Amino acid sequence: MGKDVIIACDFASAAQTFAFLDRFTETRPFVKIGMELFYAEGPAIVRGIKERGHKIFLDLKLHDIPNTVKKAMAVLSGLDADIVNLHAAGGLDMMRAAAEGLTRPDGSRPLLIAVTQLTSIDQQRMESELLIRRPLEDVVLHYAENAKAAGLNGVVCSPLEAGRIHEVCGQAFLTVTPGIRFAEGASGDQQRVTTPEKAKTLGSDYIVVGRPITGAADPVSAYRRCLAGFIG
Ligand code: C5P
Repeated sequence: MGKDVIIACDFASAAQTFAFLDRFTETRPFVKIGMELFYAEGPAIVRGIKERGHKIFLDLKLHDIPNTVKKAMAVLSGLDADIVNLHAAGGLDMMRAAAEGLTRPDGSRPLLIAVTQLTSIDQQRMESELLIRRPLEDVVLHYAENAKAAGLNGVVCSPLEAGRIHEVCGQAFLTVTPGIRFAEGASGDQQRVTTPEKAKTLGSDYIVVGRPITGAADPVSAYRRCLAGFIG
């Protein structure tokens, strides 16, 4: 899989999601299914979107003891997602167990990536709310190194951190980056934001874009604008 724009389909129902995806008549964008939609509709939503020909990033951000995560990942391995994720904060054993659980009997598995620090967290919040008193960049990099050591394929991070992560973890280690906004757009609850163009120069492999596309008057044009800015 090459560089791509992933649309965060943060909708409350299958009906809303399919109505949104129906607008894309010429392309089948890569789609991210998050907690809201998955909890509302269950595994059927993954199969339904996949049947329409979309690639899927199943963004459920698992975080629990290793055994529980391993078993949950074994269930998710039966869905045909292309990317699945968890929180790196769960630790090395949890990440290793997750990779094991996600591996199918034939040895294949979806790409597995780890959330480093949410892009809604900035230095000040990390220090005051999480009591992590190290530079945010170092924390993100350390989590990325842990993810690599556990055999994962990459991380979710801010585009601002993608370059350094590639330097340390290698070019093949994926950086999947939310926190994308058009230059003139509102940042909402995201703290560490960049444009699609900037994400490209910073070396992101995939950008994840939600509200700038789903909330646009013309989502297809907004998606095309992201593609043009990120891929060129
Ligand atoms: O609407 P917006 O573009 O902010 O959507 C970003 C998407 O990426 C949301 O679905 C959010 O859950 C997800 N995400 C994130 N930061 C992370 C991991 C995932 O914003 N670190």
